[in-house]
Amino acid sequence: MKVTVIGTGYVGLVTGACLSEMGNHVVCLDVDPAKIKILNEGGIPIHEPGLLDVVRRNVAAGRLEFTTDIERSVAHGTIQFIAVGTPPDEDGSADLQYVTAAARNIGRTMTDFKVIVDKSTVPVGTGDKVRAAVADELARRGLAEMEFAVCSNPEFLKEGAAVADFMRPDRVVVGAEDERAILLMRALYQPFVRNRDRLLIMDVKSAEFTKYAANAMLATRISFMNELSRLAEKVGADIELVRVGIGSDPRIGTHFLYAGAGYGGSCFPKDVKALAMTSAEMGIPSKMLKAVEEVNEEQKLVLVNKVVAQYGEDLSGKTFAVWGLAFKPNTDDMREAPSRVIIGELLKRGAKVQAYDPVAAAEAQRVMQGWDGLSYAEGQKQALEGADALLIVTEWKEFRTPDFEAIRDSLTDKVVFDGRNLYEPELIRSFGLAYHSIGRS
Ligand SMILES: NC(=O)c1ccc[n+]([C@@H]2O[C@H](COP(=O)([O-])OP(=O)(O)OC[C@H]3O[C@@H](n4cnc5c(N)ncnc54)[C@H](O)[C@@H]3O)[C@@H](O)[C@H]2O)c1
Repeated sequence: MKVTVIGTGYVGLVTGACLSEMGNHVVCLDVDPAKIKILNEGGIPIHEPGLLDVVRRNVAAGRLEFTTDIERSVAHGTIQFIAVGTPPDEDGSADLQYVTAAARNIGRTMTDFKVIVDKSTVPVGTGDKVRAAVADELARRGLAEMEFAVCSNPEFLKEGAAVADFMRPDRVVVGAEDERAILLMRALYQPFVRNRDRLLIMDVKSAEFTKYAANAMLATRISFMNELSRLAEKVGADIELVRVGIGSDPRIGTHFLYAGAGYGGSCFPKDVKALAMTSAEMGIPSKMLKAVEEVNEEQKLVLVNKVVAQYGEDLSGKTFAVWGLAFKPNTDDMREAPSRVIIGELLKRGAKVQAYDPVAAAEAQRVMQGWDGLSYAEGQKQALEGADALLIVTEWKEFRTPDFEAIRDSLTDKVVFDGRNLYEPELIRSFGLAYHSIGRS
């Protein structure tokens, strides 16, 4: 099939690459010429495990192309995926300007039937707005009769495992009411759900809502565990044992029950905010989502509060090694990463920070440009050199079994603040290190 993907970010690029892997001919459009240049030169602009191979293979086979040419990209695909960003507006609602611009571009140049698929995470009712934008552009061209369909196909991939998630999805949600669109979407996704049909066809609004409901539920689990972790510390319980204790109940399950330094990333924070805004606009303000957000904001400070409890408010003269900057492992995505808050708080109190991340350093330098007192190390050990204490903020695999003796010998104060509960307290203390973690008294 001929497919166009608009937006070559984490979602668009993975979508385009994985669809081409199944034999589709995909053209990916982006308005950012720098991204398209990288892609056309054989690279990829993001860190996503396994993606480069898929991209290279399909470019070489002539099934995957990248362009900034709107007219060409609209002419190409019968199916047009919109996978552009939907960042939070000032009031927290989703900013739909990029989605609308993409829709208008389609309406401005299309010459035959198109299935326009919204893959971006968008509030309920956006399908109608996309339809109106396309219809408006067609009417301006005197082509009001030209047919098109609008679908919702929210994306559930996880950064860091995006290719595997797209190739073997838990479910594919398609919101569509047009029979031709349903047929085409079924055909497009059939190869991804061959062993067991996981295609869920529903109405557009329910599909749009499903994505927000899923992310809000996951964020709620995290905030709930984070809140419990504070109580666990006070009452002398161990949140890790509690996690296993409750997770073994199949009604609860083991996923997304980890207490930590707060959730971040490009999705949970903005999607929780956007759903809360929709609730408020509909006259049913959400008490739960407000609490989920509040707990998360506080949680990003938990590690800093432990540092302050140890050293006092004035951290001048202190140097902290920070391991992990990305909002989670296996990605270079720094959007809403707790590390940004934590480092900012340390610097504000006069500390110096030596940060290390296996892949996110370049992106971190971009988003924390000009932050006085922040430097970047080439590796774990270099980050420790001359530092007083270590903070662990992202649970990269390489931090899970570190050289505890080297940590002890490098750190002046021999203290580790672990925002991801990576170690057995008894084990790490046996190396002569003081150890502070989350929810373990
Ligand atoms: N990142 C994730 O893990 C994830 C997962 C599921 C859903 N989503 C949702 O998918 C959407 C995209 O997220 P992302 O992380 O890929 O965003 P991103 O910021 O990485 O990429 C968006 C891309 O769209 C491009 N763009 C903007 N306007 C355009 C236009 N008019 N025409 C062509 N290109 C345009 C931008 O230049 C950018 O490259 C968001 O709504 C997000 O909430 C993201």
